[in-house]
Amino acid sequence: MCGIACLASPSSGKNCYKALEKLDYRGYDSAGMAGLADGEIEIFKTTGSVKNIEDFAKDFDCPLVIAHTRWATHGGPTKENAHPHLSYDGSLALVHNGIIENYQSLKTSLAECGIGFKSETDSEVVASLIAHESGSPLEKLSKATKRLEGSFALGVLFKEKVILATRRHSPLYIAVTTEGNMIASDVVCFIGLAKEFYALKEGEIAMVTEDKIELYDSQLKKIDISFCELEKDETSISLNGYEYYMEKEINEIPIIMRSFLSRYAKEDLLTPMKKLFEGVDNIALVGCGTAYHACLFGAKVLGERLNMPAHAYIASELKYSRPCFKNTLAILVSQSGETADTLGCVPIFKKLGLKTLAITNTEHSALARECDAYLPVCAGVELAVASTKAYVAQILTLYTLARYLSQEDFDIFSLSHLPEAAERLLGDYSRLASEILPAQRVFFIGRGLDSVTSQEAALKLKEITYKSAEGYPAGELKHGTLALIDKGTPVVVFATNQDLYKKTMANATEVKARGGKVILVAPSNFEKCDCDYFIPLPTLKDEAEYSLVSIIPFQSLAFLVCRALGYNPDKPRNLAKSVTVE
Ligand code: F6R
Repeated sequence: MCGIACLASPSSGKNCYKALEKLDYRGYDSAGMAGLADGEIEIFKTTGSVKNIEDFAKDFDCPLVIAHTRWATHGGPTKENAHPHLSYDGSLALVHNGIIENYQSLKTSLAECGIGFKSETDSEVVASLIAHESGSPLEKLSKATKRLEGSFALGVLFKEKVILATRRHSPLYIAVTTEGNMIASDVVCFIGLAKEFYALKEGEIAMVTEDKIELYDSQLKKIDISFCELEKDETSISLNGYEYYMEKEINEIPIIMRSFLSRYAKEDLLTPMKKLFEGVDNIALVGCGTAYHACLFGAKVLGERLNMPAHAYIASELKYSRPCFKNTLAILVSQSGETADTLGCVPIFKKLGLKTLAITNTEHSALARECDAYLPVCAGVELAVASTKAYVAQILTLYTLARYLSQEDFDIFSLSHLPEAAERLLGDYSRLASEILPAQRVFFIGRGLDSVTSQEAALKLKEITYKSAEGYPAGELKHGTLALIDKGTPVVVFATNQDLYKKTMANATEVKARGGKVILVAPSNFEKCDCDYFIPLPTLKDEAEYSLVSIIPFQSLAFLVCRALGYNPDKPRNLAKSVTVE
């Protein structure tokens, strides 16, 4: 959702490019770079992904550089709309992540002062707004940002030989790295280059030059920077021999399950949960997309095990409804911890006096900071836009939490068999992929938790193959959607619950009777039914454990179909990871 990288060092162009490359997952509509050379601001920008500015960047040797990769919001993915944007007077260049909601009225008032614009973006308005203010660069930025409504992370290169950075809602980090002083949208840029980083707080301004980084509060008073340790190691962002991050991340599922179990065994992360759940009569889980599917899983597992009402909500819907929660614990699930829709629910819950628990893969994220408590999901860095290992880690966290709270003698080692079960499902699904390849639409059905897996499997397939795919509760199919099943339509049937097996099989038979192709996913010890393709699951303890592994073949399937169609699985069209705008 737009990525910003800024660097102050003698060979900034080349190294800033390397940082920006790591932010490619945040958008790939256009990219650009600006630097201060001989007192003048030079800008290079182009459409397409970061790769397209590599040739320019490698010879761009100026001490202060700002760079951007864009996911288009205001204005199409054209060169004119690409960042950095130069102010009307050429005194500064700016990169922006976020949305300025009042940009039209600001644009009109600047136009009344005779200021013209070259792009359709809200970001160019901010560049000229800052330049139009009076005072030092710090004062100009501070005055201008007070007039902005919406969200922003800004990197501004001033002719006065300084880069300033500030944020509201969108993330921004600073670090002293081996390549120079750096500002970035994600700490992945610092991995291997710095031991510590600082997450800018709302309204703070960082001033970055070749020699130093200074921090100012919203009153422009200089404040100390308390850096945090950067734990991630470089291997977590390398492809490790894989061609695509998505494939690498699916294959990491058993590994991340093991690191989850060993971290939860070593650190006492669960004991504080007892206190958090004291006096709670209801649970509300909130997330978006795949994280929302994890919430559906969590609602069923926590609700049933703790014997209390638990409901999952789509964050963007909940935010603008009038929720009436009492004695409710709000659980917010997010891989990035920066999703604007999910983050936007925190103040609503706080206003209602609810306790909040973040379940996130990003421990330094705004969500982890803003909630009363958080549980790490330990999936490691996830860079492919389509979430795979983080989904499994999120549901593993929710399952562990439910088991811990409902079971007196819960022992984390009782989950030790799961990584091996996951490993067994990292198979070769190319034959299945070739059957799915010609289909226009694919259906996924299941009952109970299997209906959640169905929804997640359908989302994976549609977001990277652009095929129409739907996930349904199996019993619902006959209430309308069965009309879409005709000869050869693939229908994946998840059937992992012994008690509901016969009912689900009856639905599979209805599909067969209409000529549909049934792909059955069931424990190998269940009675076989008539199907066209069978994915056997190893025997596990319960329905929730099956959910942890039964999604894996369909993450792989989506990947294989995507590749067979010639698409890039890491960069699905129109999408970006970390959706920091509403
Ligand atoms: C789909 C996917 C998205 C995200 C959603 C929420 O594969 O990745 O649906 O799950 O945008 O993102 P986070 O979890 O970062 O809040």
